[in-house]
Amino acid sequence: MDMMEFLRTRRTYRRFEQRPVEPAALADAVEAARIASCGANRQTLKYIVVQSAEMVAAVQPLVRWAAYLPPEQGCPKQDEVPTAFIAVVQDERLPGASDTDVGLALGSLTAAAWAHGVGSCIMGSIDRPALCALLGVPGGCRLHSMVALGYPTHESRVVPMENGDVKYFLDEAGDYCVPKRPTEEVLLATL
Ligand SMILES: Cc1cc2nc3c(=O)[nH]c(=O)nc-3n(C[C@H](O)[C@H](O)[C@H](O)COP(=O)(O)O)c2cc1C
Repeated sequence: MDMMEFLRTRRTYRRFEQRPVEPAALADAVEAARIASCGANRQTLKYIVVQSAEMVAAVQPLVRWAAYLPPEQGCPKQDEVPTAFIAVVQDERLPGASDTDVGLALGSLTAAAWAHGVGSCIMGSIDRPALCALLGVPGGCRLHSMVALGYPTHESRVVPMENGDVKYFLDEAGDYCVPKRPTEEVLLATL
C-alpha cells in the first residue's frame, strides 16, 4: 500500500473480528511508540499491553465509545469488541511530561499496528481510576489514554465535510464516514 493510502485508511475503527491480535503486531506497536520523537528526548511514556481475554473483557466496560453516535450504532456489540488494548501512561516521576509526545507516540503506535492490518481506536473518554486499579498503573504515573485494537470488520473513510459538521456517521453498510475540512480551509498559505 502506498504511504498516502496507508494514512487515508489508518483511521479509527470500532468493530472487530473476535480473534487475538498477533503478538508481533502488539510488539511493533510498543516499539514504534518507544522510539517516537519526544521533547528533549525525555521519554516519559510507558505502556501496558492488555492481551489476555480475561483482562481485555475487564477493560471493556471502562471505556466509552463514539460520543457522536447512539450506543446501538457506536458501541461494539459483544461479538465486535476489540481483542487487545494498550494503555499509554505518562510517568510523571520523570521530568518533561508532554501531551505533544503522547500524540506522536499514539500516531506511531497506531500506524505500526495498522501495518499489520490491526485497526485502532484511541480512547480518552475512560474511567481512569478504575483502569489504574485494574491495570496496576504505578503511583506517580498518569493513565493518559487507552488504545483499543483488533482486526476491523468495517471500513472507515474520510468524506467531504458539509456545513462545518465534524460528526462522523455510519453509511448504509455500517462503515464509518469521517468528515474532514477541505484543503482550502486548512492550508492557510503556501508562501
Ligand atoms: C485524543 C483522542 C481521544 C479519543 N477518544 C475517543 C474515545 O474516548 N472514544 C471513541 O470512541 N473515540 C475516541 N477517539 C477517536 C475520535 O473520535 C476519532 O479520531 C475522530 O472521530 C476522527 O476519526 P479518525 O480517527 O478516523 O480520523 C479519540 C481520538 C483522539 C485523537
